[in-house]
Amino acid sequence: MKPLIIAIDGPSGVGKSTLGRALAAHLGCSFVESGAMYRAVGLKSIESGVDCRDVAAVTALVERAEIRFVETPAGMRVHLDGRDVTEAIRASDVTDAASIVSTIPRVRELMVAQQRALGDSIHSVVMEGRDIGTVVFPSADLKIYLDAAPDVRSTRRFNDGESLGQITKSEVQEQIEERDRRDRTRQASPLTPADNAIHVDSSQLTAEEVLERVWSMVEAVAARKN
Ligand code: DC
Repeated sequence: MKPLIIAIDGPSGVGKSTLGRALAAHLGCSFVESGAMYRAVGLKSIESGVDCRDVAAVTALVERAEIRFVETPAGMRVHLDGRDVTEAIRASDVTDAASIVSTIPRVRELMVAQQRALGDSIHSVVMEGRDIGTVVFPSADLKIYLDAAPDVRSTRRFNDGESLGQITKSEVQEQIEERDRRDRTRQASPLTPADNAIHVDSSQLTAEEVLERVWSMVEAVAARKN
């Protein structure tokens, strides 16, 4: 089969990772959560005592950072300066920091270059994020824009345990709204559907139903390509 690039974009809590992981497993290809790179920059800022709103300081930091994806039989791991940070980048303070540092143009430029290089170095890839279909792989074979109603997304995030019992559901909702606003309004590659993206609203669908729908699109694209 010829290599396939599948881009999944959309806001937080919409099920991009669940869908991406399942598609990649079906295709036997790599799955990349591009947000992990912005999270690694956020973690580096926190650990270095750098204010993540300080554009010059974060930019200087990211120029020196080594952020890499490492493929293992158990899935993709994320390394920051040679250290496996796959679990550490899921902490809630890192989630906030990632949202802020991802608005910095130079951070995006460096991360996008690495994401493209990764896509070029592997056979087929499913990559999820906010700008994969618009900026990272504008000529992806299939672009999915996954969306869901805001209250559905915050309920999912709350039930996923993102808050780890420390914050209420309405606080989860407020945080998601704030991150969405930042993603959609930033100057550098804001979250927006690519012109040729296929919109899938997962509000009323189970993860299996979303997968079923998108899988039939993948099959059609693969058949056309081969
Ligand atoms: O998908 P995520 O929650 O792991 O992403 C972390 C942050 O990175 C999120 O606030 C949005 C940002 N991000 C981005 O700007 N562009 C991407 N391609 C992926 C994530």
